[in-house]
Amino acid sequence: MRTWLWLKLLFIFPALLAGYTRPETLPAPVIHRHSLELLLNSRYSVHSGFESNLPLQVLANVLWAMTRAPFSGGSREFYVATPENVYRYHPESRSLTVHLAGDHRYNSGSAFEVGIATPRQEDAGMAIQAGVLAATAFRTDSGGNVVACPMKWATDYANANWNPEREIKMVIVLGNAPSRPLDTTLVAISSDSSLPPPITNGNDTFEIALMEYTQDSLFSPVGLSLETYSQLLWAGYGATPHITTNNRYGLTVPSAVAGYFLTRRIYLVREEGVDLFHNRLPPGTNLATRDHRLERLLTGDRRPELRQASARIPSTAPAYIVACVNDTASYRTMQEAGFVAFNLLLQAYTLGLSGFITIPLTIAERNAIKNALMLASDNHPVFVFSVGTTATGIREKERREGLVTIVRAQPAVRRSYLRVEYLLRQTGMVEAEVFDMLGRPVRTLLRERQSAGYHSVTWDGTDQQGRPVRRGTYLVTISTGGSITQHRVNWAK
Ligand SMILES: Cc1cc2nc3c(=O)[nH]c(=O)nc-3n(C[C@H](O)[C@H](O)[C@H](O)COP(=O)(O)O)c2cc1C
Repeated sequence: MRTWLWLKLLFIFPALLAGYTRPETLPAPVIHRHSLELLLNSRYSVHSGFESNLPLQVLANVLWAMTRAPFSGGSREFYVATPENVYRYHPESRSLTVHLAGDHRYNSGSAFEVGIATPRQEDAGMAIQAGVLAATAFRTDSGGNVVACPMKWATDYANANWNPEREIKMVIVLGNAPSRPLDTTLVAISSDSSLPPPITNGNDTFEIALMEYTQDSLFSPVGLSLETYSQLLWAGYGATPHITTNNRYGLTVPSAVAGYFLTRRIYLVREEGVDLFHNRLPPGTNLATRDHRLERLLTGDRRPELRQASARIPSTAPAYIVACVNDTASYRTMQEAGFVAFNLLLQAYTLGLSGFITIPLTIAERNAIKNALMLASDNHPVFVFSVGTTATGIREKERREGLVTIVRAQPAVRRSYLRVEYLLRQTGMVEAEVFDMLGRPVRTLLRERQSAGYHSVTWDGTDQQGRPVRRGTYLVTISTGGSITQHRVNWAK
């Protein structure tokens, strides 16, 4: 009996200890070939009936995507429940540490339940939409087995059972179930020809767009084409082919109980006037219909008044998209606005445009926007999205479309080395070198053929002869196929 106890302790104790102390590092995100538009057109929620076996790569991509979503202030914490434990996710190291031992999933069939704690509902919304699209990217033209659903039920359960440090605003439940193929079917067709049809499958790759997009508040004042406005509005809140479980026609965003709380509450503000965007047939409220059209509400330029409403609204953008809700205290409406804001920003980037989200808005700013656009009193603006070409005329996207991009460079302080992560868009010979600030070569880190995708290289702060370098600033360059990228690093040891 005693031997048995000792044996048990010998095996169980180290296992428990390892579980509590050793962080698990998730793999770097993989890049699929699907475009943002294809994922938006194909997204839908699966609410139940899944199994718990999904590769860790799915979790890695979903968490990475959520951390890449634009911030609306505050800081984010991520929790993950698996059949084993509840973990905290650390984005800097892509690692998981045990937060609560044991199985605390809401849905016993789920593979991962990912919760986000953040002060603002809009912020949670942006991250949730990023995570949902990242999961959708695991599907293929013939289907797949990765399904996802944002779940309020799971969120309430998580707050009661996961012992989070701050309130979890939303949980995405992910599982293994047969999923529908990716779908390019265009259903956003205008009943009155006021908007041209959007493209449901673009040339970009979702993960690359998510990695590279930036926000830019300097715009050329030149207006954009109607095709461009059509594409942006569709990405934000447009009609998609799927039908929801309660028989409503789906959109590019999920919605609590398919309530579609931003219906008739998204406005396009341009030089010629203010338009209301509709994704349903006239009068615009029947959620079992589809449309893609603009209704002119005000003729004449209201942009000067809109710009006056907040110093944080960029003053030279040719166009603004304003999203409103009827209740700013509701998680449903505010998160939904976050989904839309995320889609707009990514679509602007993939169109080679600059985009900027003014969020969150103060009560005074909301009222000033309401007055500027003469909105009904139950329309409370949540964000203003500014869009246009960049002030310099150089499209950011073209400038950055090199073959190699440095994603992140960070010192690993305790281990005394520096790690640089980069993305190769094409397989080829890669050379990584360190230079001093006078341009003198210090060390060749690697010279080898590598495949397209994410890679990393480390530098231990020594020169070619293995001698420690002096403290100071150095340049790490990575080159391939005539394309070069560099990153300034501080060697402080
Ligand atoms: C904020 C939010 C909360 C949700 N909560 C639940 C939930 O508790 N249970 C559930 O089955 N689905 C939930 N959903 C999923 C919605 O029911 C689903 O998005 C909606 O029916 C539209 O369908 P679609 O996502 O397939 O387009 C939620 C969605 C959102 C955006």
